[in-house]
Amino acid sequence: MPAVDRKHLPRHIAIIMDGNGRWARQHGVSRAAGHEAGAKSVRAVVEACRELGRVEALTLYAFSTENWRRSKLEVDALFRLLSKYINLELENIHKEDIRVTFMGRRDGLSARVIRDLDRCVERTRTNRSMVLNVAINYGARAEIADAAKAIAAEVKEGSLGLAQIDEHCFERHLYQPDLPELDLLIRTSGEVRLSNFMLWQVSYAEIVSLPVFWPDFRKPHLYEAIAEYQRRNRRFGGR
Ligand code: FPP
Repeated sequence: MPAVDRKHLPRHIAIIMDGNGRWARQHGVSRAAGHEAGAKSVRAVVEACRELGRVEALTLYAFSTENWRRSKLEVDALFRLLSKYINLELENIHKEDIRVTFMGRRDGLSARVIRDLDRCVERTRTNRSMVLNVAINYGARAEIADAAKAIAAEVKEGSLGLAQIDEHCFERHLYQPDLPELDLLIRTSGEVRLSNFMLWQVSYAEIVSLPVFWPDFRKPHLYEAIAEYQRRNRRFGGR
């Protein structure tokens, strides 16, 4: 297991969980079975972060605004899996003192999915040890457009002045403004692409791409990504 310095952990880690489809092809199973295997990695990574203790937030890219282009069969399987995961894991997550949040557009999600998501958020609202933030029907451009729209509405109604609009104000209008600054973004399956994920928040994050399909991702891979993050010298544009 790669060694990590527990005193300098990233406060906020985000993961683009890529490669479920390729893993499925490699194993001669359906894409749905690939996603199903990916849910096991979610469990392993949540556990590993919680165990590390000082990771304050873990954001997972579960379903993008572009994923609707996939076959109905696959989209349905992904949402079924999400509900199944929630039903299976919610009490565990709650026991671990993890607060669940979601980011993305609610429009377009079925009433059942919204009910499941709201139940999770409600059940875990007062937990404090870590935030598990799941991006569903999420797109970074949509998030930025939604923030601009919310700001425009406040200006129009007179509660916000033009002079008050700055980076800080903009940030306050993103989907999850209370999470710590994003420190580490991991993408699996060896791709080096942001795919419309957290474009605003990624400004100073370290990006680590690992050559492993998401369903094979386990604690040692997380440690490897954190070790790589710790090797890099973060200067935030200064010297
Ligand atoms: C990308 O692999 C993965 C997804 C689009 C979905 C990720 C969802 C899960 C792992 C389900 C469980 C999630 C939670 C939060 C319980 P891909 O299908 O794009 O893979 P490919 O590029 O190899 O085709």
